[in-house]
Amino acid sequence: MRVLGIETSCDETGVAVYESGRGIRAEALASQVALHAPYGGIVPELASRDHIAKLATLVDAVLDEADIALSDLDAIAYTAGPGLIGALMVGGAFAASTAYALGIPAVPVHHMEAHLLVGRLEAETLDFPFVALLVSGGHSMLVDVAGLGRYRLLGSTLDDAAGEAFDKVARLLGLPYPGGPALARLADRGDPARYEFPRPLIDRGLDMSFSGLKTAVRRVVEAEKAEQGGRLDAGTAENLAAAFQASVVETLVAKCARAVAETGYGRLVIAGGVGANQSLREQLAAWGVKTGVAVHYPRPAFCTDNGAMIAYAGAARLRPGLECRPGIVARPRWPLEELGPPGDSEH
Ligand code: KG4
Ligand code: ZN
Repeated sequence: MRVLGIETSCDETGVAVYESGRGIRAEALASQVALHAPYGGIVPELASRDHIAKLATLVDAVLDEADIALSDLDAIAYTAGPGLIGALMVGGAFAASTAYALGIPAVPVHHMEAHLLVGRLEAETLDFPFVALLVSGGHSMLVDVAGLGRYRLLGSTLDDAAGEAFDKVARLLGLPYPGGPALARLADRGDPARYEFPRPLIDRGLDMSFSGLKTAVRRVVEAEKAEQGGRLDAGTAENLAAAFQASVVETLVAKCARAVAETGYGRLVIAGGVGANQSLREQLAAWGVKTGVAVHYPRPAFCTDNGAMIAYAGAARLRPGLECRPGIVARPRWPLEELGPPGDSEH
């Protein structure tokens, strides 16, 4: 079974072909970072237009590399939500019309489900059930993953998502959009012990909150700037980045530990863009070794948005008898808990 996957929910155009038994045959990604950077954030209309400009070329390149013809495909999976409506419509329209022309099913994929499942693409021995820490730009969740489409939300953020906090603090430190990865690089050179930031809700429950932490960083940034004549010297920015990252990582590790204890599951999967953070990966790995919990983390390129996870999730949801039908599914807001096992609900 060969499934073409298309991701266009945000600022990356991702395309890949997954073949059951063989894995990812080819993949390609076009990032829009340079396009949005001058605006300090994503401009939705520019995102849609760039997806239109890049998508068909990327699909051609991926099929060429995999040496697969369009007529060899069994289905086309696409991100149907959550995400930016215009951006979703580009991938949805392309996928649904191409699939209809080929007489094969188009499979609408939930972006967060794809993030949750991609750990299984990396480690085929990774069985359900497991706890997933899903930390991206728009979401921070701990999820009880009992099986495909059987998701129970254990905790989520009460305000900013972890990635959003990384991006906002990066901005405070004068880093260009998207700040998360740049902040992490800065943090590597800093001393986390030079500042003491709060560990939000670390002793309580499974919900998360990062907006107070961001405010705490802002206060120190303003005070340091006032002392340093209106700007931050490099060493101060590095130390602030390191202390902020240490606070987020320590908090996330504590939440994961609690979620694993509550569920009794012996497996933890890291997912979403912040899962690419090296310090988080190292700390969770060390915790796993200490406690005997198996910690799985997909390669960094599979944590951030990509086409491979969409192709893989589409293949997981593809069932015999799924028909080729016209129509595009695009749901900018789409709670993960609304999903059911395949066949239970037609998206
Ligand atoms: O999953 P993702 O690629 O897109 C969404 O679905 O949101 O996540 C993007 C988020 C951004 O906030 C980005 O700054 C953050 O993940 N991110 C990181 C790192 N790489 C990406 N945050 C911290 N450290 C990183 N290495
Ligand atoms: Zn994502």
